[in-house]
Amino acid sequence: MPILKARERTEITITLNGRPATGYAEPRMLLSDFLRQELGATGTRVGCEHGICGACTVRIDGKAARSCLMLAVQADGRRVDTVEGLAEEGKKLSVLQEAFRRNHALQCGYCTSGILMSLDHYLEINPEAKEEQLREVIGGHLCRCTGYAQIVDAAVEAAETLRLNKSVKA
Ligand code: FES
Ligand code: FES
Repeated sequence: MPILKARERTEITITLNGRPATGYAEPRMLLSDFLRQELGATGTRVGCEHGICGACTVRIDGKAARSCLMLAVQADGRRVDTVEGLAEEGKKLSVLQEAFRRNHALQCGYCTSGILMSLDHYLEINPEAKEEQLREVIGGHLCRCTGYAQIVDAAVEAAETLRLNKSVKA
């Protein structure tokens, strides 16, 4: 990639939730801001912008990552999945989202999309995840409202439902 001047905007195309999406970004623009401001994917939240709170977590090429710790230009050509793409086509909520709804696992909801994206990745790579492991994942996110208990309940319920669905299909 050629060296860009500080205020020069470059075209960036990513695969956002399975579809190509193009926008423009200065070299210093964070991926989190690019998603929200250029592509309108405002489900991704911005909290600390320091990699601490986890609110901005998305999946990049399948792996959960803080989008405030990556520049938009670094995402060019890559696959980015956000909370907007969590539910399967034709469904309003994914199993995980439904578990959050049923367990009242959010209040203001600011932290929720990031937690969902981390759990979504973790449950994919570790379908046998137990409560202790799910607590570790959730521990990477700051929630100022819930006290975490319902979030843990929702994650455990989602893990069980996903296991059950898998065994029914097998
Ligand atoms: S906004 Fe990215 S970790 Fe807090
Ligand atoms: S629900 Fe408000 S910060 Fe988590």
